Amino acid sequence: MQLDVFTLTPHAFAWLTEQRPVATVLGSELELRLFSYRDTTPLRAAKVDDEPYGGGAGMVLRVDVVAAALDAAYGGVPEHRVVALTPQGRQLTQDVVEELVQEDRLTLLSARFEGFDERVVRHLASDAISIGPYVLSNGDLPAMVLVDALARRLPGAMRDESGTWESFSPELEGGLEYPQYTRPPDFRGWRVPEVLLSGDHGRIEQWRRDQSRRRSLL
Ligand SMILES: C[S@@+](CC[C@H](N)C(=O)[O-])C[C@H]1O[C@@H](n2cnc3c(N)ncnc32)[C@H](O)[C@@H]1O
Repeated sequence: MQLDVFTLTPHAFAWLTEQRPVATVLGSELELRLFSYRDTTPLRAAKVDDEPYGGGAGMVLRVDVVAAALDAAYGGVPEHRVVALTPQGRQLTQDVVEELVQEDRLTLLSARFEGFDERVVRHLASDAISIGPYVLSNGDLPAMVLVDALARRLPGAMRDESGTWESFSPELEGGLEYPQYTRPPDFRGWRVPEVLLSGDHGRIEQWRRDQSRRRSLL
């Protein structure tokens, strides 16, 4: 998958690229390209945003700046999906991640301050996604959330079955993961459920399914 992120702070993604599973699939299943709006802005002094028409606080990311960035990268608005990250978008869920990971190429647009000029969302983007009903200061964390969620669904990103039997997976009927425990088996009298120590894989699987359903109220 080729994943392109347009941002004002490409360096902010350095940390993410060192973390698993992103680091694991980088250069093989994942090509992550970072673009700065400032590198291609047609405005002087690397300006990218402006005051909102009609007044009000904050600055708005200009449509001509985003268009210039897309022109430089793709020669225009690309055919593949372009996602504007905005609290006003459709909410990110595991189903949306599974939908997006089918794409060979994907572009994420991040904004800051008051967000995008609406014409970016309407005419340059083909999708708009929110990572939750709250407002963050800029779109870089939402972009990183999406990059991580997508990376872990790419082939080879996860060891064994750790990417399958987990919350929201089909294996758990879209429900929440069952409780996990590790050593010690007894800590301050808080004991690990006996079934998990039994070695009986059939009982363990049934217990896990029951717990998952109970947690998910399925
Ligand atoms: C301060 S927010 C702008 C909020 C906008 N004025 C509003 O009221 O909807 C600045 C930028 O951060 C990003 N952002 C903030 N919260 C987000 C969320 N929940 N999901 C996705 N992106 C978000 C978007 O790129 C947004 O344009």
